[in-house]
Amino acid sequence: MPNGFPPGFLVGVATAGHQVEGNNVASDCWALEHTPDSVFKHRSGDAVDFYHRWPEDVELTASLGFQALRFSVEWSRIEPEPGEFSTAELDHYRRLAATCRERGLRTFVTFNHWTTPLWFAAEGGWTSPRAVDRFARYVEVTAAHLAGEIDWAVTLNEPNVATVAAVGGGGVDGAAAGDLGKALAHATRRHSAGADVFRPMMLWDGDQLGVYTEAHRRAREIIKSHGDVPVGWSLACVDYQAVPGFEDRATALRDQAVTDWLEVSRDDDFVGVQNYTRRLVGADGVQKPSPGAPVDELGWELYPQSLANAARYAASVSRRPVVITEHGVCTFDDTLRLAHTRQALEFLAAAMADGLDVRGYLHWTLLDEFEWFSGYDVTFGLVEVDRQSFERKPRPAATWLGDLAAGRARL
Ligand code: BGC
Repeated sequence: MPNGFPPGFLVGVATAGHQVEGNNVASDCWALEHTPDSVFKHRSGDAVDFYHRWPEDVELTASLGFQALRFSVEWSRIEPEPGEFSTAELDHYRRLAATCRERGLRTFVTFNHWTTPLWFAAEGGWTSPRAVDRFARYVEVTAAHLAGEIDWAVTLNEPNVATVAAVGGGGVDGAAAGDLGKALAHATRRHSAGADVFRPMMLWDGDQLGVYTEAHRRAREIIKSHGDVPVGWSLACVDYQAVPGFEDRATALRDQAVTDWLEVSRDDDFVGVQNYTRRLVGADGVQKPSPGAPVDELGWELYPQSLANAARYAASVSRRPVVITEHGVCTFDDTLRLAHTRQALEFLAAAMADGLDVRGYLHWTLLDEFEWFSGYDVTFGLVEVDRQSFERKPRPAATWLGDLAAGRARL
């Protein structure tokens, strides 16, 4: 390929419903954003109105040169009350997928990107004995409706994110603006009639690996029953590295946060790798980046080798082809975004030249987005969005990466 990657390698962009659509009002996340002591710096509000402006965004993605768009379907729009499915919302996502494909974009459809319906959280979320059946019913209806328009399916986005945070240095503890315990207590009182069952999003304790594995496997079988599409899940693949002398510690931590989850991918068609940084593991466990190390606006170390390292490790454990379902840089400094992405892709291309099987790279993210706890104070966006006029302005990195995707530029 003129761009430095093998023929057929997809370069695209990734998004997630709650972070860009706006007004996802029947979701657990919306409810949490509106509790006193909210851990969110901002409320998602209109986000960047992708819900209405997707035709413009699909057109922009294709015209920049990208070959794929990853988006998530919002469960709480599709099933706002248990068992009540909205055909209009299902049609909405079907139109989005169909339009992508008409414009030559492969669709990567995520069935759950963290947010769940408020009613699901209020009955205990993923801790409820009914959770997997609930999820499977929603996946069944959605996969049937989108049949023929999905090119690649991601069942769950980063089900290991809470485990990554628990072992240390993850985004959840690092970025929270308030007191999560208090916010959850408020939300429980408000939404669960006082019963201690409100369990939103990924914020719960328990056998996450077991529950999510079951949900993932059920979803995979259902999606496959509606079409012969590659199915996998996407994992937070932090590149854990041992400080010399602490190899055992690093291995134990890596096993818990990443390896155990990658093993589940062995039965899948691919493994979705999401990497942003490395973490050094020493005497006290996961360390903060060393003083002077370059960091992004979330304080994550900018270490361009981490993407290739994570992909190599994911492939070695899962023994499956890799798709980079997310990778990006949290910064308003677009020169930094471009330089870091280019370097990371150079390391990735070198690993591929050495035999690593990677099928695509989806940059996180297309648009300035609602960055969860950090709200709108930071961005990973390739395209700047004015949140009053909703005007989109591609940054230079968008043009460069689109040119690379289209083979008009090379690494
Ligand atoms: C998530 C995205 C998030 C990104 C940056 C990933 O873990 O899937 O939703 O915006 O990281 O924090």
